[in-house]
Amino acid sequence: MQQNAYGKDTALPGAQQKFGFQSVSAVLRPVRFHQFGPGPFGLPGFRLPGDHGHFPGKLLQRETSKSAPCGNDLCDICTSGDCIRAAERKKEREEREPFFRITGGQTLRGDIRVHGAKNSVLPIMAASALCSTPVLLSRVPRLSDTGVSLRILDSLGCKSALSGTEAVIDASHISGSRIPDRLVREMRSSVVFLGSVAARTGEAFLCLPGGCELGARPIDLHLMGLRALGMTIEERGEKLHAYHNGLRGAEITLPFPSVGATENILLAAVLADGETVLKGAAREPEIADLCRFLRECGAVIVGEGSSTLYIEGVRSLHGCSYPVMADRIEAATFLCCTAVCGGDVTVTGFDPATIGSILATLREMGCSLQIYRDSVRIQSDGRLLAPGRIETEPFPGFPTDAQPIFMALGCLAKGETVIRERIFESRFKHLPQFVRMGADITVDGQEAVLHGVERLHGSPLKAMDLRGGAALVTAALAAEGESRIHGLSHIDRGYERLERSLQSLGADISRI
Ligand code: UD1
Repeated sequence: MQQNAYGKDTALPGAQQKFGFQSVSAVLRPVRFHQFGPGPFGLPGFRLPGDHGHFPGKLLQRETSKSAPCGNDLCDICTSGDCIRAAERKKEREEREPFFRITGGQTLRGDIRVHGAKNSVLPIMAASALCSTPVLLSRVPRLSDTGVSLRILDSLGCKSALSGTEAVIDASHISGSRIPDRLVREMRSSVVFLGSVAARTGEAFLCLPGGCELGARPIDLHLMGLRALGMTIEERGEKLHAYHNGLRGAEITLPFPSVGATENILLAAVLADGETVLKGAAREPEIADLCRFLRECGAVIVGEGSSTLYIEGVRSLHGCSYPVMADRIEAATFLCCTAVCGGDVTVTGFDPATIGSILATLREMGCSLQIYRDSVRIQSDGRLLAPGRIETEPFPGFPTDAQPIFMALGCLAKGETVIRERIFESRFKHLPQFVRMGADITVDGQEAVLHGVERLHGSPLKAMDLRGGAALVTAALAAEGESRIHGLSHIDRGYERLERSLQSLGADISRI
């Protein structure tokens, strides 16, 4: 059984008939089992020859007990955190997963075109659920998170198809309001479906996404905004039920310009009765892209790019054809890799104004930049100067998503770099791995002080989150010797085949 890159089903009609599942996904996302007493063929637990402890859903319904320790050292399927065997198996599984092998020291040369933006396509896909006729999206990045969004839409009764970098989403017959828990857990930003699904269908069910690798991530601002628009939101344990009898425009002020909360409020306000004024809105370019998409669908929105958005609600939205904006963080990643490895690279197909603070920092670090309307050429000899202080801030400030990648640069830049993370509480997880490579870093709370070293050395590394993973790749490309980077599922959430892009510039990187 296979899944394609997006987690969408490949044709498996035989299995579908055999197991009587509505969709092949049900077969592919099996229930995990604990021990049920003696299993067939005298094996402990429920296993069959050739089976790896996972069984398609309908045959067996009992769920694993996640709380009790397993206590059975033959069990290889227990998900209990207390089970020693489970920890060993997890390690073995991780070792079997693909990894990047990188030999550092190559200079980078050539042109590279940026893919569509992850942080733009996800809310736009959620917004497509508002439209009563089909939407055609182009420049869709091929990411695992894009696949999760399409699976959410499918689970709500929408139809979607993906071909190359184009996606068609038809929400004309949207019938469901329950966003499956497993998909919310796979992708935290699925919370952005709350506003659109509730606005379109009258209600939405969603489990709380909870914290993540970046620390606690509350959604109080999302809920505050949606409630102000007339939504009732009941919170029972980890479950949310949002419903309404018609949304009304309102004046809402966000105390912090949360990107996700701005998106959720926008997605509900476009179908609310009357005018909404959203003050303190996030100004990120991805919000402006969402506004442009919604306007193409018939919404009335003014003010994108500023911190006050005016939205005049309409009765319904229609589909449109829309190209997703380019990924500014991917563009920044290619520029940073060139900065630290040395070389001459032109990054094309994106708006340099979306990364103004990053370009200014690269110049301070000694890189030569030529900035054009939709591309940037960077030339670097690889010998960087410390930029002094970097503080992450909401747009147009220095983006938190680029912080880990600049930490990789700071490790090798001459002098002292101070990095202060002001958006997320836990965004230094990649730091011990830089130290393992030979970096000189001290941390005090949300501040890291780096003293540039002459060289980093290749090491076995593990990505702990998406941008931290990209930062490890950046450091490994500049390090002496070979590095192996595990945890690629994090990197694949936000970069479309990163290794291919970097290979095209001359980097020695391969997915093993
Ligand atoms: C989005 C981006 C992410 C980026 C971040 C900041 C997507 C899919 N993700 O995440 O890549 O790093 O913006 O630019 O677009 N907060 C609250 N209460 C809320 C909402 C947020 O306290 O209701 C806090 C968060 O915990 C965090 C900070 O506000 O500390 C920023 O969060 P937010 O701007 O909402 O980021 P996301 O939308 O989650």
